[in-house]
Amino acid sequence: MAVLESDKLLLLGQSEGEIPVIMDLAYSVFGMSQFEIIQNLALPDFPFRSDLYKRSIFLDKEFDFKKNQKQPVHFGVLHSNVKYILFDHFLTKYGITKDRYITLVDPKSSISPSSSLGKGNLIQPQSTISAMCELGFGVTIKNNSAISHHAQLGDFVNINPGVTLSGFVEIGEGTEIGSGAVISNNIRIGKRSFIGAGSVVTRDIPDDVIAYGNPCKVIRKNERWDKVSAYLKTKNSSTLETNRSMNTVGKVE
Ligand SMILES: CC(C)(COP(=O)(O)OP(=O)(O)OC[C@H]1O[C@@H](n2cnc3c(N)ncnc32)[C@H](O)[C@@H]1OP(=O)(O)O)[C@@H](O)C(=O)NCCC(=O)NCCS
Repeated sequence: MAVLESDKLLLLGQSEGEIPVIMDLAYSVFGMSQFEIIQNLALPDFPFRSDLYKRSIFLDKEFDFKKNQKQPVHFGVLHSNVKYILFDHFLTKYGITKDRYITLVDPKSSISPSSSLGKGNLIQPQSTISAMCELGFGVTIKNNSAISHHAQLGDFVNINPGVTLSGFVEIGEGTEIGSGAVISNNIRIGKRSFIGAGSVVTRDIPDDVIAYGNPCKVIRKNERWDKVSAYLKTKNSSTLETNRSMNTVGKVE
């Protein structure tokens, strides 16, 4: 079993659906059973039915980041736009860079030796990543997904359960693919878009849209990223590390 410098994992943000999934994976990969959940907003707690894990919840301003510099970090949320805001918040306020995020790969998944994963990735059971794929920072691949050869997945991409990507598919930063979608060879899906569950994508899809159906068609603008624009407007984001790679986010209006 792999070993880390600390036996406690810091989870940034709290999603009821995602936290137990991440805990199970951190337990399977690193034997971790202690988790400190750091929220940037005070949110109500949710029922938690497991005695296996010790869980403490803090507001970010109550937590001593200096004292806990060695603790590895992961996201405690799933959606791309929320991950983006949390990454930005903890980077600019507490200096938590991409290097602090660990990647969790379930032992029951298969990763081709010629593929590269990014920091802060989460790869769930029974997923396959074939030859020559490149995954960016904060990418999540849910159960039973097949990522065929030469796929390029940008930062904060989420692949929901049972998705099939054929060869040479490119998915832009912040895009989410709904459960069971099938993407044909050589398709390029833009940034910050959302592909509906069960879609069959046979043509390229642009940035910033919701698209679904068989064949998959653009339905409307993806408003999920508006909250990122609103968030960025409330702060001085000129020094953001992510702005260099996602410099159009602030223009989604
Ligand atoms: C794409 C999605 C976000 C669209 O949501 P929406 O625009 O709010 O859609 P609505 O629920 O308002 O439905 C509007 C219409 O589109 C249809 N529709 C919605 N999603 C569809 C999809 N994926 N494929 C085909 N049609 C869909 C609805 O049946 C409805 O049709 P109607 O007007 O004839 O009744 C959502 O349906 C979806 O697919 N989410 C992904 C869920 C998922 O994979 N979750 C992962 C869990 S781990």
